[in-house]
Amino acid sequence: MEPAGEQTTHHGMKRALVVGLAVAGGALLVAALAWLGHAWYESRLPETYSVMDYAIPDDGGAPMGAGHVHGTTSVVDLRGPEGTPQRQFTLTAQLGPVRLTSGRIVETLSFNGRVPGPELRVSRGDLVEVTLRNRNVEGGVTIHWHGVDLPNAEDGVAGVTQDAVPPGESHVYRFRAGQVGTFWYHAHQASASEVRRGLFGALVIEPASAAAPESTDIVVVVHTLDGTPLVNATDGVERRAVAPGSLVRLRLINTDSAPQRFAVGGTPFRVVAIDGTDLVGPTPLSGRTLVLAAGGRYDVAFAMPPTPVKLAVEDTLVGLALSSDGKADPPSPSPGPEFDPAAYGRPAPTPFNAASHFDRDFTLDVGRRPGFLDGRPGRQWTINGGIYPRVPMFMVDRGDLVRITIHNTTGAVHPMHLHGHHMLVLSRDDVPTSGSPWWSDTLNVEPGERYEVAFRANNPGIWMDHCHNLFHAAAGLTMHVAYVGVTTPFETGGAAHNHPE
Ligand code: C2O
Ligand code: CU
Repeated sequence: MEPAGEQTTHHGMKRALVVGLAVAGGALLVAALAWLGHAWYESRLPETYSVMDYAIPDDGGAPMGAGHVHGTTSVVDLRGPEGTPQRQFTLTAQLGPVRLTSGRIVETLSFNGRVPGPELRVSRGDLVEVTLRNRNVEGGVTIHWHGVDLPNAEDGVAGVTQDAVPPGESHVYRFRAGQVGTFWYHAHQASASEVRRGLFGALVIEPASAAAPESTDIVVVVHTLDGTPLVNATDGVERRAVAPGSLVRLRLINTDSAPQRFAVGGTPFRVVAIDGTDLVGPTPLSGRTLVLAAGGRYDVAFAMPPTPVKLAVEDTLVGLALSSDGKADPPSPSPGPEFDPAAYGRPAPTPFNAASHFDRDFTLDVGRRPGFLDGRPGRQWTINGGIYPRVPMFMVDRGDLVRITIHNTTGAVHPMHLHGHHMLVLSRDDVPTSGSPWWSDTLNVEPGERYEVAFRANNPGIWMDHCHNLFHAAAGLTMHVAYVGVTTPFETGGAAHNHPE
């Protein structure tokens, strides 16, 4: 038998250990709670702030130069040209009934009472003037010209380039149509909600010389409105009469927040343009599935055969059927291997390439981790490890040649959209692009993928660079490319309740 005293000591040590552990555990818990509390507190955003306030300036590995010396420019002074416009449009944003071709009525947002809004067609070189009126959209409205590299003040981003337009008021956009191609316009105030609910439409810029190579030119806007897939305004199959032998160009525009998959049946076709830029030497394709990024555009061309052609949107019953009498609706083609723009068409000279000297080299790592976004806990998107608004701001100088390496380490696809510039795609997963020069403004970055892209900083301003899954953008997957010396008087929140995402 052990002496009683030793037992007591033993018990005492045990008790001390337990108490000690409890104290240490308690302290850890307190520390963890304090850390969480701090993270929560720090994540909260004020009612009103500037995008310049929180972002972490990133100089892309080179000190900032001349911009500082030459003083500052406000975005409000970076307007479109003066003069008499060649084309004028009025787009009235409103909440009200919209009729689908099936007869179904949806109470929703629209421009001019239609979803999609009016198709705007202009010619290259036109000075375009668009008056936005807000009839009754409570949250306010702006218009962003997706893919058009226009002056910054015309970019339509609430809280960065203008204030959201309240009900009863209007705003005028002016820009010279400098690019030929397929673009679209959409609200950039509360865009995740307003675009989904119908505030968008197509913008086509045709070549200035009269004769376009294709005689049949059809815009195909694909959207999901109130749970209903649409091709243009049709919640079914849009049928069109096309004379055999005529050259057809279909301008596919994905206005949803998820990629759309298209199949073309009944004819070989060529992908002749991506994101508003013609491809060089596109070759005929058959049975390929076209995966179009949210916000992206593909132009598809073919000669109309004597038999019907069907464009189907995968996983839906909607599509476009072309035939000589406009009555046929052939069955949907089955999906095939995916079209890959990285090795399609013929290489051609570009103003810069992978071998160029880059003035700035940025990394854009899209990740995900637990944390707080404006006080809300969850698995948050990150850019270079930071949760919005603590994301980088890529700082550039006028004239810089800029390279960005985009890496997606998440399990979701991110269609990365840069405003005001087109990005030349240099490589994917370290494999150089080998086909036609591929200029993109909305690049679908799949899980695990790494892209190198480059652009010339030739359009001063403060430009959004964000995921065009607008729900991701609203959840913080958004940042800016800013030119040194450019400032904005506009703020997120504020009297206009600016919330671009
Ligand atoms: Cu299509 Cu920032 O937008
Ligand atoms: Cu995304």
